[in-house]
Amino acid sequence: RTITLEVTRYRPGQDSAPVLESFDVPLMDDWAVLDGLNYIKDQLDGTLSFRWSCRMGICGSCGMNVNGEPRLTCGTFFTEFGDGPIRIEPLKGFPIIRDLVVEVDDFLDKLRHVKPWLIREGEELPLTTEHAQTPAQLEAYKQYSMCINCMLCYSACPVYVLDPDFLGPAAIALAQRYELDSRDMGDRFDMLNLDEAVWGCTFVGECTKVCPKHVDPAEAIQRYKVTAAMRSILPWSRR
Ligand code: FES
Repeated sequence: RTITLEVTRYRPGQDSAPVLESFDVPLMDDWAVLDGLNYIKDQLDGTLSFRWSCRMGICGSCGMNVNGEPRLTCGTFFTEFGDGPIRIEPLKGFPIIRDLVVEVDDFLDKLRHVKPWLIREGEELPLTTEHAQTPAQLEAYKQYSMCINCMLCYSACPVYVLDPDFLGPAAIALAQRYELDSRDMGDRFDMLNLDEAVWGCTFVGECTKVCPKHVDPAEAIQRYKVTAAMRSILPWSRR
């Protein structure tokens, strides 16, 4: 038994447009889409380019569009798709470098923009003093710290796909991760309270739906909107 994988092939500068190329690979019940891609690379066409590393949903590098949905290919199994075919394309919203590999620079710049580190007044980095937390203090931000930077939420976001200046779900969730951390003394509100940040979100919630780690960026965005409302009433309130 085999299943057909329709895979995007594209070499910018050499090809005029991306095209789909079909490969038949063994239909194994315990294979993920990533196993199929590795079979193609090993047995059929060594020039196929795609990213992966951990093969266990941790590194976040194997995100692609699978039958039109942003998914981790190492966690998406053939058994979901019957006899196929399965269409595998690069994540939407990012420039293609080659085949299934997309540019990540803009995404990383956006993460850096929200200052994703503990800001402490009167302490130099790296921090050397221990700042203990209670389980409840950890719980306050824990879900936001589970992000693996797979970029699925950006690919699913209708705002980011149309407007690359939109700060986007993972960066806003990351900012919230630090804002809710009892050890953090920073204030990132001004960089979030903008049309190209939380106010650009149309709250369709696709970011939350596709997250493989159950992070809820849509909630992070709503929290900032509530903060904005609170600050308009009580300008001295911080969060
Ligand atoms: Fe690491 Fe899929 S290969 S998350």
